Amino acid sequence: MTNTTTAKPDELVLVLDFGAQYGQLIARRIRECHVYCEIIPHDTPTGEILARRPKGIVFSGGPSSVYEEGAPLCDRALFDAGVPILGICYGMQLMAKTLGGQVRGGTQREYGKTEITVVDHSDLFEGLNPRLIAWMSHGDRVDEVPPGFIQSARTSTALAAMSDQKRRLFGVQFHPEVVHTPWGMEVFRNFLYKQCGCRETWTTESVVTAAVRSIQEQVGDGSVVCALSGGVDSAVTAALVHRAVGKQLTCIFMDHGFLRKNEADQVVETFAQNFHVNLVHVQAQERFLKRLAGVIDPEEKRRIIGDEYANVLEEEARKIGEVQFLAQGTLYPDVIESGTRQAARIKTHHNVGGLPETLKLQLVEPARFLFKDEVRAVGEELGLPDEIVWRHPFPGPGLAIRVIGELTPKRLDTLREADAIILDEIMAAGLYRRLFQCFGVLAPIKSVGVMGDQRTYGSTIVLRAVTSDDAMTADWAQLPYEVLARISTRIINEVSGVNRVVYDLSSKPPATIEWE
Ligand code: XMP
Repeated sequence: MTNTTTAKPDELVLVLDFGAQYGQLIARRIRECHVYCEIIPHDTPTGEILARRPKGIVFSGGPSSVYEEGAPLCDRALFDAGVPILGICYGMQLMAKTLGGQVRGGTQREYGKTEITVVDHSDLFEGLNPRLIAWMSHGDRVDEVPPGFIQSARTSTALAAMSDQKRRLFGVQFHPEVVHTPWGMEVFRNFLYKQCGCRETWTTESVVTAAVRSIQEQVGDGSVVCALSGGVDSAVTAALVHRAVGKQLTCIFMDHGFLRKNEADQVVETFAQNFHVNLVHVQAQERFLKRLAGVIDPEEKRRIIGDEYANVLEEEARKIGEVQFLAQGTLYPDVIESGTRQAARIKTHHNVGGLPETLKLQLVEPARFLFKDEVRAVGEELGLPDEIVWRHPFPGPGLAIRVIGELTPKRLDTLREADAIILDEIMAAGLYRRLFQCFGVLAPIKSVGVMGDQRTYGSTIVLRAVTSDDAMTADWAQLPYEVLARISTRIINEVSGVNRVVYDLSSKPPATIEWE
C-alpha cells in the first residue's frame, strides 16, 4: 500500500531525538502551546532539517554521556543556521561540548526535585520567580559555558541553564516538559513565542481544517473505505474523512460477536443515523464462532480473528465496487515508534482495520500526526458523542480474549452482561475517565456457592480495573469498596450462572492488562 500523509501547518518546530525518555512529552508540551511540532531522529542530515524551515529546534535529553565513544552527536552547522535551538539535559551538554564549553561526568548526581536560582531573567526565564523547583535527572554537567554564552540559572552545585541571546541558543539542564517542573510551560512559551517567533497556529479547528483540505486533495473524487472498530481513533478518522468527502466514504462496521453490550447499536446510531455516513453493518458472528470452535490458545484466537476479519473486510470492500483508498486511524505515537521498538512479543496485537495488499489501496491517515488527546479534541470538535470520544481502549479481538478458554455464545453472553454492569457502576461512580481500562474477565473455573438454600456450582467473573498512561505499564486501580461491593452484588444477582466475583490486584509488569 502506498501512503500519503496529511496536512501539517506551515510553522514547525522540530525535536531532535537523542534517545530521550521524555521525547514524546516534549512534543506534546510544544503542541499544548499551539505550535506544531514533530520528532525526528538526531542523525537526520542537516540539509534535510533546514529544508523543512523549522522556526525552532529542540535537542531532547538522552541516556548517553557526550564524551562516551559512540554518543550521538550533532552537526555544528546547525548552530550557524540562524534557527533558535533549545537543548534539554543531554541536548544542553551536547550544545556546550560542540561549541567549546566543558562537560564533565558529575560526581554529584542531581535527581528529582531540585531548587534552582535564576541569574538572568531576560530570555527563557522571563516572568518567572528567581527561585524555582525543577526536575533534574542527570549525572554529567556543564562546567564551563561555551564562548558567547552566559549562565542563566544554577543549582547549589551546578549550572542549570545557559544562553547565547545573540545566536538564540539556549540550554537547560532540568526537564521543563515533566509535570514536576510546574512552570516548565513558561520556558517553552518564552522559547517558542519570544525567541522563535512562533504563532499559535496549532489549534483543534486548524487541525480539522487542514486535515479536511488534505483529504480532499488526496482523494479527489475517489472512493474511500474505513473499518470502524467502535474506538476513538477509527471514529475520528471516519468523521474527518466524511466531513471532507461525504458520500465518497463507506464505513464498514463488523460485529464479530465479541463486542460489548450495546456497542454495535451505538456505532450505528452515531454514524448512520446522526452523521448520515454510508455504513455497512456486517453481522459476522457465526463465521467467527465457527472458526474458533474448540480453540483455547490465546494467540491462536488472535490469529484466527485477525485472519477472518481481513477476509470479511475484503469481501465487503469488493462488494462496494471501485475503491481506491483505505482510511486508517494510525496515530503519531505509532509513527514515532514503528520500526524502533524492539520489545519482545508478548501478545500479537492485530491492527483491526487492515486490508490485504491485493486490494492495492492507498492509505488515508488523517490522524497520523496526532497524539491521543489531540484525537479526542478533534472528535469533540466534530461532534462525536462522549461515549465514543472518551471510550477506553478495547482490544480488536474484544471479548474473545476475555472469555478465558472456549468461546461459546453462552459464555460470551455471560461476560457481556457482567461487563455491562461493571461499566455502568464505574460510570455512575464518576470513575470512568480516571481509569485507563476496566472490564470483566470470565475465568475458566467454576466454584461452589450457595443461593437461597441451594448449592450452586457457578462461574467466576474477574474484575480488572487499571490506571495507566500508555498501557506499557499499569497499576491496579484502588477502587472504593462501595463500588466493588455494588459491582459484585449486581453481577451475582443479575447474571445467571455467576456465583463469585474476584478483583485482580496485579500490576503490569509482571501481569499484563488483559488476561489472554
Ligand atoms: P496487555 O494485555 O498486553 O495490553 O497489557 C496492553 C493494551 O493492549 C490492548 N490489547 C490489544 N489490543 N488487539 C488489540 O487491538 C489485541 O489483541 C490486544 N491485546 C491487548 C489491551 O486492551 C491494553 O490496552
